[in-house]
Amino acid sequence: MLYRVRQFIQALLAGAKHIDYYWVSEVLPPNLYKLYLEMPRYEQVHSYRVAQDIARSSNDPYLLQAALLHDVGKVYGKHRMSMLGRCLAVILDKFSPRLLRCLAREHYPFWSFYLYIHHPEIGADKILRAGGDQQVAYIIRNHHTRTHDTAISLLHKVDSSR
Ligand SMILES: [Fe+2]
Ligand SMILES: [Fe+2]
Repeated sequence: MLYRVRQFIQALLAGAKHIDYYWVSEVLPPNLYKLYLEMPRYEQVHSYRVAQDIARSSNDPYLLQAALLHDVGKVYGKHRMSMLGRCLAVILDKFSPRLLRCLAREHYPFWSFYLYIHHPEIGADKILRAGGDQQVAYIIRNHHTRTHDTAISLLHKVDSSR
């Protein structure tokens, strides 16, 4: 829960954080780089930091692409997960995950809850529709799933600390 509070504060300060867009454009093919640029600035910063951390111990190109886009499903058409919505979702997830799942509906005012729950599969589908690699989509689809897959476990661990 504490790391979520830290994520929230970091999101507020995201405008001031540096992103090496050249590095991002080297890691991502042009069609996926476009998806990266569509994310809100605070999601770009978060994903960039996750990918930079992973790059210190892995040069798996699919894992690095997935790291940069793991939360791309939080943008769904004209809908976005708001910061307030994310905070409420985190609190509900902690105290009543069943209620959160009941409220996670594809209509106003529940979009943030819906995207909080479903962003992994939405993100994976976006990657495939944009012509991204199956492996990148697979990692993104499972980035909140408990698994023995080394790449997904590493992403999950770094994501939880960022
Ligand atoms: Fe996520
Ligand atoms: Fe994340």
